[in-house]
Amino acid sequence: MKVLAIMGSPKGKGNGYKVVRRIEENMKQTGDVEFEYLFLKEANLGLCKGCFVCVPKGERLCPLKDDREKIEQKILDSDGVILSSPGYVFNVSWLMKNFIDRFAYSNHRLRFFNQKVLLVANSGGAGLEETLKSMRNALGGAKIVYELAVPTPPWPVTPGMEQKNEKKIGEASKKLHDAMLVKTLSPPKLNDYMRFKFLKTISSEVKEYLPADYEFYKDKEYYYDTKISLYNKVMSSILFRIAMTFMKDMGPNKEAMKKENK
Ligand SMILES: Cc1cc2nc3c(=O)[nH]c(=O)nc-3n(C[C@H](O)[C@H](O)[C@H](O)COP(=O)(O)O)c2cc1C
Repeated sequence: MKVLAIMGSPKGKGNGYKVVRRIEENMKQTGDVEFEYLFLKEANLGLCKGCFVCVPKGERLCPLKDDREKIEQKILDSDGVILSSPGYVFNVSWLMKNFIDRFAYSNHRLRFFNQKVLLVANSGGAGLEETLKSMRNALGGAKIVYELAVPTPPWPVTPGMEQKNEKKIGEASKKLHDAMLVKTLSPPKLNDYMRFKFLKTISSEVKEYLPADYEFYKDKEYYYDTKISLYNKVMSSILFRIAMTFMKDMGPNKEAMKKENK
């Protein structure tokens, strides 16, 4: 089984690296696991220009010619992904934020269903929850199996803190390892199916504005081959109608659309 550790510290091998190395040691003791590190500080991944081409028109049209596609393939070839970032002012590092932005399109066209994700945040002690939260939507479709928060202050930690950290690191390692053993994809829960239906419906209503989403969703029953329960079908139709009533002003102005398309 393969783990790709995506490292967001501008230092490269800093405190976060020490934590992820501990996870690697634990996981290698438990089973046959291969680790690869992707240090974002060294990766050929340009800075998002904010052109917003990847989401509506497709990631292939991104003006940045770099390793984004290769990195996506590396992720798809992995069973587990670790996203590691230090906490900077209650957020991820700029390197991790840029990584998240460069993969923004995967939140529209979800794809990382076979990947199990472990989030790792480390900081002097403050802002760990916020740092983890910022990474939750990084990889569309991936299942987050554990969120590990490790205080790494600039002073030597007490034996009590060290013990606490080790315990959490052990738990995180086991969770990721066990999750990676599960190879089957479960039928979607109601909220996952609702999200699918929402994106499919919206992209068909505004296909001129979201052509990449339209192409992606138009022939799909779900993201992967699975059975959608009758309960999910019925409940999602009811809830969808209610949600659309409340969100009607979020939708397109059909009159303006007609004029634009004349
Ligand atoms: C720009 C900057 C902002 C930081 N903000 C915070 C913070 O909000 N809270 C905190 O506890 N530590 C903060 N730190 C400390 C780092 O999170 C801490 O040193 C961490 O261990 C660095 O991890 P690394 O060695 O993996 O890069 C900040 C450090 C930097 C450089």
